[in-house]
Amino acid sequence: MNEKQRLESQQVNSNNTDKKEEKDYSKYFQSVYIPPSMKHARRRGREEVKYHKDFEINEQFDGIGNGRKFYIRTYGCQMNEHDTEVMAGIFSELGYEATDTVEDADVILLNTCAIRENAENKVFGELGHLKPLKLEKPDLLIGVCGCMSQEESVVNRILEKHQFVDMIFGTHNIHRLPEILNEAYMSKEMVVEVWSKEGDVIENLPKVRRGNIKAWVNIMYGCDKFCTYCIVPFTRGKERSRRPEDIIQEVRQLAAHGYKEITLLGQNVNAYGKDFEDIEYGLGDLMDELRKIDIPRIRFTTSHPRDFDDYLIEVLAKKGNLVEHIHLPVQSGSSDILKIMGRKYTREQYLELVRKIKKAIPDVSLSTDIIVGFPNETDEQFEETMSLYREVGFEIAYTFIYSPREGTPAAKMKDNISMEVKKERLQRLNELVNELSREAMKKYEGQVVEVLVEGESKNNPDVLAGYTRKNKLVNFKGPKSAIGQLVKVKINSSKTWTLDGEMVKEEETAEVI
Ligand code: 5AD
Ligand code: SF4
Repeated sequence: MNEKQRLESQQVNSNNTDKKEEKDYSKYFQSVYIPPSMKHARRRGREEVKYHKDFEINEQFDGIGNGRKFYIRTYGCQMNEHDTEVMAGIFSELGYEATDTVEDADVILLNTCAIRENAENKVFGELGHLKPLKLEKPDLLIGVCGCMSQEESVVNRILEKHQFVDMIFGTHNIHRLPEILNEAYMSKEMVVEVWSKEGDVIENLPKVRRGNIKAWVNIMYGCDKFCTYCIVPFTRGKERSRRPEDIIQEVRQLAAHGYKEITLLGQNVNAYGKDFEDIEYGLGDLMDELRKIDIPRIRFTTSHPRDFDDYLIEVLAKKGNLVEHIHLPVQSGSSDILKIMGRKYTREQYLELVRKIKKAIPDVSLSTDIIVGFPNETDEQFEETMSLYREVGFEIAYTFIYSPREGTPAAKMKDNISMEVKKERLQRLNELVNELSREAMKKYEGQVVEVLVEGESKNNPDVLAGYTRKNKLVNFKGPKSAIGQLVKVKINSSKTWTLDGEMVKEEETAEVI
């Protein structure tokens, strides 16, 4: 019997021996919890953002993790990946050790994503798998955090159906992990701490970064765009920017520690600085300062076309360590759909922005996000997405079928498009995405590219793998000593998503892209 079968059979055979009895916990969290609601959202922005620069773990929690191991499973976007690094940092300061097997763990956290229904289903599936482990090891703590915890319906479902869960905490409560763990050890009840407050900015949180080559740096939190399909403004709170001096200092430190690439993170990085009341300072200003730091590559994600200003384009055109790859989610090629999505730009405005970017950075590589099957999207409107994709000449896209999210305006819209049609559209779009990616990759054949070497290739330890400035994955033959370095690789052949080549010596190359 394999491990999976063993867990499943336990699940079937076990009686409910969860440590918690059935209780109504709602009063416990509703006092601090406000579910996704546009009414509440409209009042957004009145409260001042507080900056806490003095985060430290209360000494009463010293050693709480000694002899204990933690495991965090991360779902979703890079913001979540980075939150996991922060939680790993807190665990490690508390004395916990990391483990990469759930069976070994004394605390398991699921850092969840709420962006689409299937992301949520995965988490509920995983909770089902973890239940037998909890029955076997009653002292094990299981926690659910991340975006799903910010949804009332999810919290209710866990309270009702997954009572073996010990902790639920939200995206604004990560810094409270020591207190939450402590309470979970002491309490017989599920610890639920989900603040719906718009969120403060907490500096000096500890971090255990994954690897020492590339690093994520938050520049802002939250989103005020309220695209009608999107749950993020509700799960991540209002837009609040970190102070430039804190970001610059963090990037400088990472450079000093030998990191080679920084990705600046935010749900809508182009709104960076709009919330500052004392200074006029935007993403362009920040990039212009960061480009002077001695670190080979700086990128950012995710952009919103509406806030992408001319000054930013001007700064990006200076290149240097600012890479010529921009991820610019378009979502749809139809102005009518964009309007109902609340994106606040038209097809023409998007194309105009692309034209400006290409003029300033002729070798730019553009990627995007697209949603197909938005409520009532007609065939013609979908065709407009197809034609826009070709017109821009995107090199890659993340494509999704629209997924209704409770509490968002789009979820209330009647939809006359069948799932079958939506799937067909997705397939057609993906074929186009593949075609353009193949074409873009083919152009690299015979060229020399700069690769930041990350390690051995996943499929073949004799081959190294790394990424170009434009974020293309390159597999190539080279010495292990190249790991962590920027090297030059001559591309011999291309596939749809990857390039193959061999390392060349510095002096052998004339032009590198
Ligand atoms: N359904 C489908 N895709 C969505 N996205 C955001 N919300 C939804 C939703 N409700 C997509 C958008 C966004 C990306 C991160 O996820 O394309 O850019
Ligand atoms: Fe969601 Fe739109 Fe904000 Fe992106 S900009 S996080 S899609 S609301």
